Amino acid sequence: MGLDLLLGLQWGDEGKGKIVDVLTKNYDIIARFQGGPNAGHTLKFDGIKHVLHTIPSGIFHPNAQNLVGNGVVIDPVIFQQELENLDKFEIDYSKSLLISRKAHLILPTHRLLDAASEKAKGNKKIGSTLKGIGPTYMDKTGRNGIRIGDLEFPDWKSKYRELANKHEELISFYQVDLTYDLHALESDFFAAVDFIVDKLRFVDSESVLADAQSDQKKILGEGAQGSLLDIDFGTYPFVTSSNTTAAGACTGLGVAPNKIKDVFGIFKAYTTRVGSGPFPTELFDEVGEKIAKVGHEFGATTGRPRRCGWLDLVALKYTVQINGVTQLMMMKGDVLSGIDTLKICTQYEYRGELISHLPFSLDEEFINPKYIEMAGWTEDITNCTSYNELPSQLKEYVTFIENFLETPVRLVSVGPDRKQTIFR
Ligand code: GDP
Ligand code: IMO
Ligand code: MG
Repeated sequence: MGLDLLLGLQWGDEGKGKIVDVLTKNYDIIARFQGGPNAGHTLKFDGIKHVLHTIPSGIFHPNAQNLVGNGVVIDPVIFQQELENLDKFEIDYSKSLLISRKAHLILPTHRLLDAASEKAKGNKKIGSTLKGIGPTYMDKTGRNGIRIGDLEFPDWKSKYRELANKHEELISFYQVDLTYDLHALESDFFAAVDFIVDKLRFVDSESVLADAQSDQKKILGEGAQGSLLDIDFGTYPFVTSSNTTAAGACTGLGVAPNKIKDVFGIFKAYTTRVGSGPFPTELFDEVGEKIAKVGHEFGATTGRPRRCGWLDLVALKYTVQINGVTQLMMMKGDVLSGIDTLKICTQYEYRGELISHLPFSLDEEFINPKYIEMAGWTEDITNCTSYNELPSQLKEYVTFIENFLETPVRLVSVGPDRKQTIFR
């Protein structure tokens, strides 16, 4: 028995949280494999919207086990808030949520370093979520990090002090204006650490997953961010600091590549991006504004407006290939209702040459996206419950995408609610 993965194929916010929640009934374990509280995964059911940052999106299903893998970075303060938000829903997370001992901790000074680094970059800033993600992964690969498992040993606070002192020196190195009260931040941090030590189960998660596979349990790996934010294959340096692609599930959970079965690649019917960095199909006109408005395109973690643009099949072809996607899931088709003519990017003109692959640089000065046009649809599709009910133009849009990507579109989402999900 292996595991399936669900991951974003664009710049994040594709709707991963919604679909993991929808699929959880088919799985025993939902395992997050990378990222941290930079993620904001939205779920909606029974008229209530939930936003999760670190907790896997299977948490609302009483029979599912949820696991935060070793590839995830955890901010105890944000984690505690998330857990407390669950209290009113009577979720027994001390049983249904397991945390890898090898997951790294985000310290208050990691957040400060993130802010200092962004300030020092000025208008070249990454536009990070300021959650300390980059500095925490830097300490992980620099072999200085503190892990969840360290909290079970008495000397972790001296490790903490040593690292936090070093961070303070680094912060002053940036020579930026940053005011903070580390004592206050630390008292919240230590209180949150005590909370999670008290409430949660820490496990050797790679062994838990190996045993689960031997027991024929069904496992779904939940990605965060999207493939175009991958540290290796994304639009570097405007990326996050982890491998958001399928390979990240192997390192972030400790599962072997040959155990991966289905890879569900999720994408919006258009494209969005939050933060800085190139975006070839970005719209700066009233169509872009309409998509942003109808799609409520504001970051689930930071509230920042998301940049919107046409669907980019050159980029999607690349991310389908990198991830070995076996099934596609198209989200937010409903948002495109009422746009007369839809454009899809199928080629780039890159430094004067027509190309069909994702080149080294997506910078505006080198890329001119080439589009095909398709007829749009006017119908409100948010109440459709079967594929046949959808307008013929939308079905043609889907057929074009799956032919181009040589991968079937198995799911079309027509609204944020669990129920607004059409399987084919
Ligand atoms: P994630 O980070 O991939 O989990 O995605 P986010 O939660 O950050 O962003 C997706 C947003 O789109 C959320 O506000 C969802 O509630 C919403 N959403 C998901 N699917 C659909 C859909 O099919 N139609 C519409 N209109 N909204 C959707
Ligand atoms: P989910 O899981 C969209 C973006 C940030 C910034 C860049 C680096 O909800 O899809 P970081 O804080 O990771 O150092 O920021 O990555 N980013 C996301 N964009 N969705 C996310 O997560 C993101 N997580 C990070 O905006 O451009
Ligand atoms: Mg999100």
